[in-house]
Amino acid sequence: MKLHPRVGGEIGRPIMTSASNNGRLQPINLFEYEQLAKEHLSKMSLDYYSSGSGDEITLQDNRAAFARVKLRPRMLVDVSDRNLTTEVLGQSLQLPLLIAPMAFQCLAHPDGEIATAQAAASAGVGMVLSTLSTKSIEEVAAVREKLPNALQWFQLYIHKDRGLTRALVERAYAAGYKALCLTVDAPVLGRRERDQRNEFTLPPGLHLANITTLTGLDIPHEKGESGLFTYVAQQLNSAVTWRDLEWLQSLSPLPLVLKGILRGDDAVRAVEYGAKAIVVSNHGGRQLDGAIASLDALPEIIAAVDARAEVLLDGGIRRGTDILKALALGAKAVLIGRPALWGLAVAGQAGVSHLISLLHNELNVAMALSGCAQLQDIDSSLVKFLYL
Ligand code: FNR
Ligand code: LAC
Repeated sequence: MKLHPRVGGEIGRPIMTSASNNGRLQPINLFEYEQLAKEHLSKMSLDYYSSGSGDEITLQDNRAAFARVKLRPRMLVDVSDRNLTTEVLGQSLQLPLLIAPMAFQCLAHPDGEIATAQAAASAGVGMVLSTLSTKSIEEVAAVREKLPNALQWFQLYIHKDRGLTRALVERAYAAGYKALCLTVDAPVLGRRERDQRNEFTLPPGLHLANITTLTGLDIPHEKGESGLFTYVAQQLNSAVTWRDLEWLQSLSPLPLVLKGILRGDDAVRAVEYGAKAIVVSNHGGRQLDGAIASLDALPEIIAAVDARAEVLLDGGIRRGTDILKALALGAKAVLIGRPALWGLAVAGQAGVSHLISLLHNELNVAMALSGCAQLQDIDSSLVKFLYL
């Protein structure tokens, strides 16, 4: 296996049992999963998953922001008994982690979102299912038959067709999802040039599992354009404003989570309009290129929210120390996006499970080394911004 350039030396014995990785060294971090995943994905899928918009400045800055924050570890603390469990919107998690909503997971593995959901549920981390999933709301909810405590939220894109939007919310509620996560940073899709060049569309056999059966709508194939860009432009409602949140909340009793907030004043409005949680996010650098790195936006939002809602963060989380930094700056939990797709592509459910365990172990070690026995010990004094 080709190692990520930043990792060297001994990487341990090959223990991966998955057939797809037969005889290969098992990845020991998320970057190695990314490297390996490249061998399992078509160019169109890999480009779609990995792309950012425009010059990918925000995509890169999401990672760079973590490097800019330095840790100030505390010494001589008894960290022999560590506890990584937490609660998000009243539901318990084994570690402060959720899998972010991501479209089209069957491009990575035939089990798609079901495998991701199973891995998340068995590890006791959350999962947010995308409106644009390739397994249905009900199929993914069925994972909870065996693992009833799993935290599952449904991510909503508001379509122009209000009836369709209403049906999606009602289905999510009926299927037992515990929150409605409205993504607010995508009135149109960001320009991802690789998708445009590849004329991105879904391969034969894959559909919008929640939508095609209801409406016949599907991702088109178009000359010189990303079919997803066209779908979003034609079908999603770019006129949504704060006022629509009242209507949305009238459709079900589900708590509202707003994903894609990057400013303190928007966070205050989110609270005023009833959001119970906020996901500080720039959509993994896939929407407005040049937007602030999510970690850089976090302190302003924590101050503005003033504990009136839970604040989560995604974008660039790749290490246990990244989780530590985000929590130190005030996040209640974090979400990972692309890494879950890399795990899925490499070994389906087993890959995602293993990848989550890697992050768990990394956070565990990072906490011990910084003098934190439990998540509550992670406070703002642990971090320092050094602008060099
Ligand atoms: C996404 N993201 C996303 N967000 C959302 O609200 N609905 C969606 O359907 C999707 N789809 C999607 C597909 C793919 C392939 C990616 C990579 C991302 C954004 C996602 O939820 C999350 O904000 C970012 O992925 C987090 O950044 P990292 O962890 O990928 O750096
Ligand atoms: C994306 C959309 C689907 O980022 O949210 O590809």
